[in-house]
Amino acid sequence: MVVEGITGLEGTGKTALTANIGACLAMQGIRTLLVDADLYFPNLGFHLGINPKYTVHSYLKDHEMEIKWLIFPHRHIKNLYLMPGDPNEEIHRRLSFEALTGLVEYVKEYYGVVLIDFPSGLPIAARPLISGLDYQILVIDPSTVPLRNLQDWVGSIVGKFLHLGHPNLWVVLNKPLIPKKALLSLERFIANELEVPLLGTIPYDPFILESTYAGTPVCEWGDDLGVITEIAYTIEELFV
Ligand SMILES: Nc1ncnc2c1ncn2[C@@H]1O[C@H](COP(=O)(O)OP(=O)(O)OP(=O)(O)O)[C@@H](O)[C@H]1O
Ligand SMILES: [Mg+2]
Repeated sequence: MVVEGITGLEGTGKTALTANIGACLAMQGIRTLLVDADLYFPNLGFHLGINPKYTVHSYLKDHEMEIKWLIFPHRHIKNLYLMPGDPNEEIHRRLSFEALTGLVEYVKEYYGVVLIDFPSGLPIAARPLISGLDYQILVIDPSTVPLRNLQDWVGSIVGKFLHLGHPNLWVVLNKPLIPKKALLSLERFIANELEVPLLGTIPYDPFILESTYAGTPVCEWGDDLGVITEIAYTIEELFV
């Protein structure tokens, strides 16, 4: 019954990591629910090859509907459940993050872990969801600014998420296409100067990209599962 939010700027890998880490947690035997809280551009269902009839959006438009209709077991992976969004839903005021927060609060007791895939950027509209989290995992792609500005940039991202968000913030560096030396000093900067714990660094891995293309999490593909599995074990050890 641990609720973790996956946050970060656009395109950093939030949804791919929600799907992949969630699948690994489920394969480790933890009953895991993935919630698509990107009410604007939900695509977690795509990442898991699920094309649902009912979605988070259906519930937000009609709170009377049966909650069990919103939760889809993954077709192959035992213990993995998804509460998807509807990519075609228009944005309107009835889609409230408060109501979604209440929904997560209601369902969380049936799961060992709930992973919430946040919308991109600072969770301003999605702030109610932050208050229901036990942990926030901030995904940062360090390949997006000049190396000379990298630490300032990461410092500013972490500072803003800390300020707006939850105190239990952990960082994941994802797909860092930067020199090894710069990566090591960034990892040290985050841990020692920003004093924020680093959950792990996930290299740029064509299999993760492939898993998105195929709508199949990497852990379904074989035994040598690499960094994603390690992170899932760390999450189990530290948080669950
Ligand atoms: N470690 C990785 N190695 C290679 N590709 C990756 C990795 N992590 C994510 N990707 C790819 O990066 C792309 C963006 O990922 P994703 O859609 O998960 O980002 P996001 O943060 O959810 O984006 P958005 O802000 O639009 O919601 C996807 O094609 C995904 O497969
Ligand atoms: Mg996403």
